[in-house]
Amino acid sequence: MRIILHIWRQRNAAEQGRMVRYEVPDVNEHMSFLEMLDVLNESLIAKGEEPVAFDHDCREGICGMCGAMVNGVAHGPLPGTTLCQLHMRHFKDGDELYVEPWRARAFPVVKDLVVDRGAFDRLIAAGGFISASTGSAPDGNAVLVPKESADKAMDAAACIGCGACVAMCPNASASLFMGAKISHLGLLPQGQPERKRRVKAMVAQARVELFGSCTNIGECEAVCPKEIKLETIARMNGDFIRSSWG
Ligand code: SF4
Ligand code: FES
Repeated sequence: MRIILHIWRQRNAAEQGRMVRYEVPDVNEHMSFLEMLDVLNESLIAKGEEPVAFDHDCREGICGMCGAMVNGVAHGPLPGTTLCQLHMRHFKDGDELYVEPWRARAFPVVKDLVVDRGAFDRLIAAGGFISASTGSAPDGNAVLVPKESADKAMDAAACIGCGACVAMCPNASASLFMGAKISHLGLLPQGQPERKRRVKAMVAQARVELFGSCTNIGECEAVCPKEIKLETIARMNGDFIRSSWG
């Protein structure tokens, strides 16, 4: 099939970017979106042009490196799917796709579709950790965790830190990402010692990074490739209120 792409090209953080039109003929429907970009890049390199820069690593939906807006939707039109796992069979011959980087003050564009997500690293450094020594693997039942808590903690731990939630939120809020981290640590016994400190530190760091506030719009949940739930934000807010009481 033939796909027409309009891709954001920006040489570096200092220069202004613009959309550039490309045609990719002979796209195989079994290609992933990133493989389709690989094909485009090979043709650009063959013509002596600069290839499109985009982030990727695992290409299996687990590392959180990939991501771009496709026709205004973070990671494209397929729910619960990262860009690297989005296959071209979900598009039609002749489709015209607008591909842009994440747009948020906290995620400045580095080049083309690559943005700097160091702000997420700094949120984690502020509070997304535990001090309990994990040591070697403990006996299965040595630390008792209610099944419901274990399930919810595991669901929240599925967050891969891709940043789609921020990119899709009209406030560029990092609340779903923070809610996921605060839930997965705060629901387990090992996460209790820092529980109050964690939420205060992460919320304070989010302000420093210029992430916006959550106004319960829900776009983040709708595009999250790991289907992290809004209830993680409610849990974060509950922890924040309790931590403010002392
Ligand atoms: S909450 Fe979802 S969209 Fe946000 S960083 Fe985690 S995996 Fe990505
Ligand atoms: S490249 Fe790892 S999640 Fe897409």
